[in-house]
Amino acid sequence: MKRNIILDCDPGHDDAIAILLAGSNKNINLLGISVVAGNQTIAKTARNALNVATFLGLDVPVAIGCEFPMVRDRLICEAIHGESGLDGFEFPKYEKQFDKRHGVQLIIDSVMNNEKTTIVATGPLTNIAMAIRIEPRLLERLDEIIIMGGSVDNGNTSPAAEFNIMCDPEAAHVVFSSGVKVKMVGLNVTRKVLVTDEVVQRMSKINNKASDMFVKLMKVFNENQRKTFGVIAGPLHDPATIASIIDDKLIKYQHMNVVIDISHGPSYGRTNCDVFDYLHAPHNAYVAMDIDVNRYWDIIEEGIKSY
Ligand code: BDR
Ligand code: CA
Repeated sequence: MKRNIILDCDPGHDDAIAILLAGSNKNINLLGISVVAGNQTIAKTARNALNVATFLGLDVPVAIGCEFPMVRDRLICEAIHGESGLDGFEFPKYEKQFDKRHGVQLIIDSVMNNEKTTIVATGPLTNIAMAIRIEPRLLERLDEIIIMGGSVDNGNTSPAAEFNIMCDPEAAHVVFSSGVKVKMVGLNVTRKVLVTDEVVQRMSKINNKASDMFVKLMKVFNENQRKTFGVIAGPLHDPATIASIIDDKLIKYQHMNVVIDISHGPSYGRTNCDVFDYLHAPHNAYVAMDIDVNRYWDIIEEGIKSY
């Protein structure tokens, strides 16, 4: 049976590839895309999401969500994703319109009107936290929430915090403490899947519209990652969430207690993962601990080929 998925995202280079992967898999029923501000302002991330979906020929509603986090000031990530949020690829001008609903409403409607929906979040958790607060009954109807965010070890936005969580730690707190089944795919795992030049070359050989988008986006993504972090290639974070649905053995998860630091101190936005169960506190999240890197690139390749 196909899995019902809502993808909440902030494209973003790696978000674009998450859309690509979710949109073409025969076992995934992509109910909709809700967009949140994160890698760029909401005007830009929303336009990017609609452009990617239209370019790939996906017939799914795309709805504009929250522009600002719940409590803190807004962050964006121009150093990595550029001025447009998707620097490196030019889309044609499309006529296609956004869904009329707010992104939060799209999430609520999709979960309430379908059986066992999974929310995949590849941006800050603002829309999802708002949906939970507006319609708490969705917690009983949801299958699970799979999040790209956080880290068992160090951050990428501060020593402690990963970008998606740092953008809206209070929203992350709402989601992680909601009682719903949460899977957290953090930097400790996504830093293993680097888009090396070999990966870019391998995907370029597919030679279709999806590979064209992948290659052009990844060239700029990698360049910006090298400049910002001095790494040899950028980590392809976001599609790991969708890939773990496509192959449930791809990522090894460990059930544990995770608390979001909302203290506004130096560790604000940290996902405190109790790997060794020091606290004997309730296990509220399945945390990604390892990923099968070769299998991941096979899944990405199959996804690109399917267009
Ligand atoms: C996350 O932050 C964003 O820049 C990426 O799209 C990804 O979702 C990685 O920390
Ligand atoms: Ca993202």
